[in-house]
Amino acid sequence: MASILSVLDSATRAVFEDMGFPADIGSTRESDRPDMAPFQCNGAMAAAGMAKKRGEKVNPRDIAAQVVERLSANAAIEKLDIAGPGFINIHPTAAAMSERAAELIDSKNCGIVQETPKTIVVDYGGANVAKPMHVGHLRSAVIGESIKRLLRAQGNTVIGDVHMGDWGLQMGHLISELEIEQPSLPYFDVKKTSDFPTESPVTMDDLARLYPKASNAAKDNEDRMEVSRSATAELQMGRPGYTALLNHFIDVSVAALKIGYGNLGVEFDLWKGEACVDPLIPDMIEELRNKGIAEEDDGALIIRVEEEGEKTDVPPVMLLASSGAVLYHTTDLATLVDRKADPNPDRIVYVVDQRQALHFEQVFRAAVKAGWYEREQLFHAGFGTMNGADGKPFKTREGGVLRLEDLLKIMNEAAAKRLSESGIGADFEPEELTEIARKVGLAALKFADLQNQRMTNYVFDPDRFTAFEGKTGPYLLYAAVRIKSLLRKASDHGAKFGIINAAEPAEQQLILALDAFGRAVASSAEKYAPHILCEHIYRVAQSFSRFYSDCPIMVEGTPEDLRASRLSLAKLTLTQLEMGLDLLGIETPERM
Ligand code: ARG
Repeated sequence: MASILSVLDSATRAVFEDMGFPADIGSTRESDRPDMAPFQCNGAMAAAGMAKKRGEKVNPRDIAAQVVERLSANAAIEKLDIAGPGFINIHPTAAAMSERAAELIDSKNCGIVQETPKTIVVDYGGANVAKPMHVGHLRSAVIGESIKRLLRAQGNTVIGDVHMGDWGLQMGHLISELEIEQPSLPYFDVKKTSDFPTESPVTMDDLARLYPKASNAAKDNEDRMEVSRSATAELQMGRPGYTALLNHFIDVSVAALKIGYGNLGVEFDLWKGEACVDPLIPDMIEELRNKGIAEEDDGALIIRVEEEGEKTDVPPVMLLASSGAVLYHTTDLATLVDRKADPNPDRIVYVVDQRQALHFEQVFRAAVKAGWYEREQLFHAGFGTMNGADGKPFKTREGGVLRLEDLLKIMNEAAAKRLSESGIGADFEPEELTEIARKVGLAALKFADLQNQRMTNYVFDPDRFTAFEGKTGPYLLYAAVRIKSLLRKASDHGAKFGIINAAEPAEQQLILALDAFGRAVASSAEKYAPHILCEHIYRVAQSFSRFYSDCPIMVEGTPEDLRASRLSLAKLTLTQLEMGLDLLGIETPERM
């Protein structure tokens, strides 16, 4: 099944090739001037340039005229005109559009092109054990979830791994602080090596309190810091009581994280973390030493990863600190070893703050040097920050880090306010209205995040995010819900669906928008860039809006076949809108 664009594109390429030019220069794309024509082919200028190099003197307009001549018999083309120096404007036939709409209705995935399936790990989320989720965890979760869904929609096997931060000094802080508070717990008895209680001695609230207490105490007290460091070292050496505690901390945190991510509509296939790859580290280090890649440096163990002729130095990977401690590089490398063993993915995409770009560059280079991966298999999809009005990463009014829970509450309230201002849902039961406000608030937040290019920073503005006008989540939800209500009304009237007949300009424009879905998904997935899909969904919603106001459907006196055609088109639009929103991780309410 081919999109209208790809049918036209193949036709123009073939003509250029026939005329002795490379097919590539004859490509067709969506027009920069949709007011003149939906598609354009600019190959004539390039072709004239090539002819000139061969010593022939030809005018690009003449080449364009020949191309037009050869294309005139094409059944998918209604009209061709030549503009300016030799642009070819292409109008498809109404029949081609109707046919494409019929195909899209039959397609179970709205025209998303299925790729040769690959196994891909998406490493996102990355929350840390024992710390409550905060605003800094938002973007990785939201962007990562969308990238996972996009790759999956193309037919790939995609595994989302939360890769929790659960190893290193933070664990030493927690263990030692708990020991100070409750020294008599069995975990601290050096002689005890097994049969620890199955019930956790701490709750999530305890952890959230213990961690800052310890880290603040250690900040300006070297002795206290040493206690945390040595607890970390003992944990990493496998002290049984500490390991048992760590497992409690992880279980308690995972339960809390599942709720937190669940509230965001984010799900992981794997709940692995840094700690679980620790057992792989000794063999990994031995392999790296044997291969002559790891070397001693000032008591530490490092891998040099700088490359010749680089402008800025890329510092070495730190495998072991001089204290023998394992570091962030080490656990990420061991995770690569773990993933190589299973599921041995074709690709791994890390959706992590752009400020960690150097870390990933170092780790990737080391993994390639070790011969475990090809460079192309590893990709860091970085992102910018969500800022406050001051242009700095968002903080609460008191200057603290905003908890994710509180962020969602703010969005929820902003959405509820908007709904009541617009009089939406005034006659609904309170529970339904609450649920709608939740969905609208979340859609507002996610769409506002995803519509930006990943790397750009943006400003948190709940008021703007929740507006029902403009390029916002609520606008898109409203568009989808409006179609749902139209279809309910149609069904109440016993109206039927029928063959789509693309006659009116607004119908054609809508079909052309729907035709672009497969492309939008493909390039979003290829570039790990959900904003491309956001743009597409917005275009579909706007095209629908125009169609809905130009083309009567349930209005008395509309001929039955016309109504049936338009209802089918509305239904197709809804399917695509919902599918597109779902790929962004956004849920659509039944009504609003
Ligand atoms: N836990 C890390 C942090 O809070 C993020 C983890 C990102 N993923 C990774 N494989 N390193 O910064």
